[in-house]
Amino acid sequence: MSDPDQAQAALSQYADRIEKALEAYIPDCPYPESRVTEAMGYSLLSGGKRIRGAILMAFYRLVREDMQPALPFACAVEMVHAYSLIHDDLPCMDDDDLRRGKPSCHIAFGEATALLAGDALLGLAFQAMAEAGSAAGDAAGDVCFSPETVLQAILCLARAIGPGGMIGGQALDLALEGGHATQAQLDRMYRKKTGALIRAAAQIGCLLAGAEAAATAAALRYADCLGLAFQIIDDILDVAGDAALLGKPVGSDQARGKSTYVSLLGLREAERCAAELHRQAKEALGALPGDTGFLLGVSDMLLHRQR
Ligand code: IPE
Ligand code: IPE
Ligand code: MG
Ligand code: MG
Ligand code: MG
Repeated sequence: MSDPDQAQAALSQYADRIEKALEAYIPDCPYPESRVTEAMGYSLLSGGKRIRGAILMAFYRLVREDMQPALPFACAVEMVHAYSLIHDDLPCMDDDDLRRGKPSCHIAFGEATALLAGDALLGLAFQAMAEAGSAAGDAAGDVCFSPETVLQAILCLARAIGPGGMIGGQALDLALEGGHATQAQLDRMYRKKTGALIRAAAQIGCLLAGAEAAATAAALRYADCLGLAFQIIDDILDVAGDAALLGKPVGSDQARGKSTYVSLLGLREAERCAAELHRQAKEALGALPGDTGFLLGVSDMLLHRQR
């Protein structure tokens, strides 16, 4: 068992570092296009658990002391995540009006600006990673990673969020709307739409740190279990959660005719599946060197999360 208070405190520390680093990426833009940058900041800097960025940093820190070099990559993952949420809420997708306790980006800024803000965050994510690998983008003037390492990180994220990953999963999600998906179809969809980005966060953390192949394999087993469970718990919260705590609507999945773990198996069985996946995630940590206390705590926190 992990210490939940300690894990929560460590997550808050990671989240603060990521939040501050993200702020620096949103430009002041006194031109007509400032509305797009305002919308980018509105969605990117609106809190969020920063779980993906924290996982990246935590795997990096299993091997390395200093967390600073990994920050731009954690920011990139959170930028991609923010973009995916903006687009996910659009009327042509899930049509949700509330996100992170505020009106969704398209409610606050209009659909066209929200679409563009999402696009821009996606581009900014790749800019942040590329700059971290070039002297021009490094304020201190010392580049921490080889061009080959940065290229590998960029490739990892690009693959994870394309049609073979997150976007493929979002497409499956829409294709299965109004139907009755099997558990195998749901697993495939969840591993892609939600799991792929969490997996990429773990993989990039290991890659930047120069982790051993066996450690990386264990990290990916952990992330895969966590990613699938993350979406199952998201489904559960959509039925049994509290909208005020969640900061997003409940009942959205049923209203859209989404196929989910809860609609297929019921709440109890969905909870059992999520708990079993978290057990497997923690088991995978056993094969990792270093202090895995925080990653253990993350698993416990996510299983019992209310938001
Ligand atoms: C929500 O992700 C979208 C899913 C993949 C289920 P999070 O629950 O991590 O959202 P934030 O970043 O904390 O708002
Ligand atoms: C979102 O899944 C997955 C991505 C954004 C890629 P959901 O549609 O269930 O996420 P929420 O419930 O809107 O946060
Ligand atoms: Mg969705
Ligand atoms: Mg949604
Ligand atoms: Mg959901």
